[in-house]
Amino acid sequence: MCIRRHDDRGQRRRAVAGWCDGGLRFRKGVDVSVTDRASPEVVELWDGERIRGWQDYHLAGVADLISAVNLSQALLALVGSGMLDRLRQDGPCPRDALLDGLNPEVGAGFLRYLSVCGVLEEFGGAYRLTRRGTMLTSDIALARLGFYLEAYGPVTRAMTDLLTGSARYGVDVTRAPAALGRHSGTVSTVSYLPIVRRAMAGRSAARLIDLGCGTGSLLIQLCQADPELTGVGLDIAPEAIAAARETADRAGVGDRARFAVADAFDPATWPDGCDGAEVICGIGVLHEHFRDGDGRVVELLDRYADILTGDRVLLIGEPEVRYDNRENDSDFFLVHVLTAQGIPRDRQGWLAVFGRTRLQCGRLYTSAVAGPRTCFYELTPEKE
Ligand SMILES: C[S@@+](CC[C@H](N)C(=O)[O-])C[C@H]1O[C@@H](n2cnc3c(N)ncnc32)[C@H](O)[C@@H]1O
Repeated sequence: MCIRRHDDRGQRRRAVAGWCDGGLRFRKGVDVSVTDRASPEVVELWDGERIRGWQDYHLAGVADLISAVNLSQALLALVGSGMLDRLRQDGPCPRDALLDGLNPEVGAGFLRYLSVCGVLEEFGGAYRLTRRGTMLTSDIALARLGFYLEAYGPVTRAMTDLLTGSARYGVDVTRAPAALGRHSGTVSTVSYLPIVRRAMAGRSAARLIDLGCGTGSLLIQLCQADPELTGVGLDIAPEAIAAARETADRAGVGDRARFAVADAFDPATWPDGCDGAEVICGIGVLHEHFRDGDGRVVELLDRYADILTGDRVLLIGEPEVRYDNRENDSDFFLVHVLTAQGIPRDRQGWLAVFGRTRLQCGRLYTSAVAGPRTCFYELTPEKE
């Protein structure tokens, strides 16, 4: 260990430096200018072992990990507190307006934190998003954060208990269904709407069933864009269906985009109005059944072989896990492991499963160069 002593003698202090551990170099006699005779003696320690420990901590990226966790939570709080809506309005937002209705002390510190992090900039007591702040709060960015922190947060926080077996997924711990539907829906709508549209256009389809529709954004946006379109969204989660109905009504398409709590894989539970749909689409819903083995997914798909009469088609959109750690592949894998869902697989894996069913995959759509890697499989009954 090295000690540097800023020694108070006359107008100059003498900094005395020396290595204290055996075998290390000793330095002394470093001059330090002094202007205030009353200031305390400064003893600066140099501990090589401790410094190496902190260098390891930084090189391992732990400091960045901590900042990433806190900033992620802060961005969601920016949304949840209503501050983001205020910041998105034209022009800088005065501090008092920004913190209206919030705890002023916490709010002031929060604004300072976000300014230090480069999310906000302040001028003359008013705040606005920086360029970085705008990107960090884009719809996709917030949906991706929300998917992992809000929808799957209750699960990842229980990771130890799930590992040790003191908690079981679905019994003691569950993901948050409405948050899952909302955030997954944002990403799905932005990323996959063109694929669903294209599959529908190819069949001149005017009716759609959306299996595992979450909070309904896909069907709602399709109906908004096409006044001829009608559809039914089905989801097992009542919270998601309640949110979907509300959004559809608000969007003015509640009469054409209808939603029901039902099991996507048990047509007996489906409401009236599902019979005539030319396209039955299911995004990110089928792979959950791999939890019961590939045979279970084969069985569920075979149920559709009888429903898909005429020109009807089943459009299955499924994430393509490739274990290469791009596009948060490992994070996606982790939440599926923890929630005892079946693990999604790559297209070869899916094609092998389809090959065991009475359906055939005539077309595969993908737009994998941007966003979550997902394949859409167009399935029709196997020709006799
Ligand atoms: C990953 S989310 C995908 C939601 C939506 N399709 C999208 O692309 O954003 C999976 C959804 O499937 C629903 N789900 C799971 N099993 C289901 C089942 N057997 N029947 C209906 N919905 C189901 C979940 O509640 C959840 O909303």
